[in-house]
Amino acid sequence: MQQQYDLWIGGQWQQASQYETLYNPYNGEALTRIGQGSPTDAERAIEAAHSAFASYSLMSAFQRSEILYRVAEIFGRRREELAAVIALEAAKPLKAARAEIVRTIETYRFAAEAAKSVTGEQIAMDAAEGGQGRIGFTVRLPLGVVTAITPFNFPFNLVAHKVGPALAAGNTIVLKPAEQTPISSLLLADIFTEAGLPPGVLNIVTGKGAELGEVLTSHPLVKKVSFTGSHAVGEIILRRAGLRRTTLELGSNAALIVDKGTDVDAIIDRCVSGAFGYNGQVCISLQRILVHQSLYSRFVERFAAAAFKLVIGSPLEENTDITSLISDKAAERIALWVEEAVTAGASVVTGGQLSRDKEKGNNIYTPTVLTDVPHSAKVWTEEVFGPVAVIQSFGDLPEAIREVNASRYGLMAGVYTPDINSAFMAARQLEAGGVVINDIPTFRVDHMPYGGAKDSGKGTEGVSYAIQEMTQLKLISFNLS
Ligand code: SIN
Repeated sequence: MQQQYDLWIGGQWQQASQYETLYNPYNGEALTRIGQGSPTDAERAIEAAHSAFASYSLMSAFQRSEILYRVAEIFGRRREELAAVIALEAAKPLKAARAEIVRTIETYRFAAEAAKSVTGEQIAMDAAEGGQGRIGFTVRLPLGVVTAITPFNFPFNLVAHKVGPALAAGNTIVLKPAEQTPISSLLLADIFTEAGLPPGVLNIVTGKGAELGEVLTSHPLVKKVSFTGSHAVGEIILRRAGLRRTTLELGSNAALIVDKGTDVDAIIDRCVSGAFGYNGQVCISLQRILVHQSLYSRFVERFAAAAFKLVIGSPLEENTDITSLISDKAAERIALWVEEAVTAGASVVTGGQLSRDKEKGNNIYTPTVLTDVPHSAKVWTEEVFGPVAVIQSFGDLPEAIREVNASRYGLMAGVYTPDINSAFMAARQLEAGGVVINDIPTFRVDHMPYGGAKDSGKGTEGVSYAIQEMTQLKLISFNLS
């Protein structure tokens, strides 16, 4: 790893006026020093992206696609090294980090394929009386400069979900990765250069959101802002971005309904992976589990026993499941929310302990299962973004659907049921951007549409859906009469 990373602007490494040391969240070791971009650096990056747009937007779809295929190929060649980078900077257990690299490769491949079909359609103009003698069609055109503000939890793949579609569609981009995980994004500079991307098409400005956010979301040359992160920041971005395009992926408190007749033993491992994968630091982490009363005791017992067995340790160990949370602040908030729930009457079936190694600076929160949680508690109403699952029982499916829907969030929901009518009823009535039958809400493959209902966000990701949102639909009408 390099000792210091500068900013990547206009196809060149440019020095920042300040640098900060980045620490490994698991063992407190200094990893490198990261340039802290200023608002002026962000402006320069936007201007570089704007200058590059004129020629990049004219590059053929074939060439754009080839670049993205080469990026996927480089990821494949460097997969072990890149997985280790995520394990080091994000404290993501190696097996989860490897799975992320596999998905990142797929995301860039989907983008490479989609680059070849950014198309419009023919419009039957003469279907209207006034349209006689006209031929009409639509084309999809790139917007210009896109800014991407990305989170720490999938430092390669959620970046790929913004960079891939933006470049496939012919846009140029300024990327501002999460403060906790900048190295993975900075490595993209070399990866995309090796793949043949022209200078200035991808710019990477690291630093603090509070410093850079305003420019990245309101500069007049920015045509689209794509953000994944908290609801509070999403609201600020929306206000600043005004009428320009925005895609906001803002998380949730994802729920699963386990209906009567479900084979509990067959689903426990899957549910545990959904709730505790990467310490629950996933927007669609399984947080609320509603189990039919006939299965409730068995589910709680089996689920808690499996959660208890998860292996806690270093992200670089092959069998580690749970490791340090990303920061002190996150750990303190999670511990506080669990304490609040317990004071209000919740029972801790397993977990509920924060162990902090002051020397290493890490924060391990044991996989936690809560029952009897009042619905006013934050672990029920808000996004925990930590290893905490809440289980409650229900009497009939309409009641469970009502309880899932009584939330301001709605990104993904899951339902296990052996009954096709119940499956259809839940699919229709659950208020979420996606409903997964016979699987956990944490299920995602990278080409499916992904976007929230209600306070979970605005707009849709998933490569070809993101491309729709990163292009302008233009009508062209010919008067032949
Ligand atoms: C997210 O945490 O927003 C994305 C989850 C995923 O891609 O699996």
